[in-house]
Amino acid sequence: MTPSYDDSVRLLPPDALERSLALVGFMGIGKTTVGGELSSRLGWLFLDTDSLIETRSNMTVREIFDWFGEARFRELESEVVTVESARPQRILALGGGAFIQPANRDLLLERCVVVYLAAPWSHVSRSIHRLKNTRPLLRDRSLTQLHELFDARHTAYDQAHVRVSTPGRNPAQVANRILELIGLPFEAP
Ligand code: S3P
Repeated sequence: MTPSYDDSVRLLPPDALERSLALVGFMGIGKTTVGGELSSRLGWLFLDTDSLIETRSNMTVREIFDWFGEARFRELESEVVTVESARPQRILALGGGAFIQPANRDLLLERCVVVYLAAPWSHVSRSIHRLKNTRPLLRDRSLTQLHELFDARHTAYDQAHVRVSTPGRNPAQVANRILELIGLPFEAP
C-alpha cells in the first residue's frame, strides 16, 4: 500500500485533553520548532529529548554516539522518555529514533497524545543536509540508505494517535492544525 502522509486522526484516548503531547517524526521535520509553537499556545512546558540528554550527560548527542555508541544513547533516551512522559502539561519533541523503540512507543501511546509530523521523502530529503554535523545517523549513510531508513520508520511513526502533514504549512500553522485535530482549546499567541 502506498504510504500516506496526509492529516489523519486515529482513535484518540478518552483523556486526550489531559495528556502531554509528544511529537515524533524524521530528523529535520520540525519537531522542535512546532513544539515551541504548541508550548506558547497552551502555556505548557516545552522539552526536547536530545537537549535533555545533552544537559544531563554534559555531552552533545554526537559525542555520546562517538564515545559510547548508539546503544548507550538509546538507553539515555529511554530514561528521559520514561520520566518526562509521566508528567502532565508537557510538549515533548522526541529525537527521530525514540518512537522506533517498542518500549518507548508503548509508554508514549499509553501516557501522551502522540503526533506524527509527516511529509514524503521528496520533501524531507531536501532539509537533512544541513543537519549532517549534529546528527550522527546522517553522517555515514548515503541518500539511498537514508531513504530506506525513512521508509522503514514510517510504519512505526504511523502508530501515533494523530498524523499532521507539514508541507505547505509553516510551524505556526502545523501547531494550529494539531490542536484543531485533537480538539484542544488554545489562545493564539
Ligand atoms: C536521531 C534523531 C536525532 C537524535 C539522534 C538520533 C534518530 O534527533 O536523537 O541524532 O535516530 O533519528 P532529531 O530527530 O531531533 O534530529
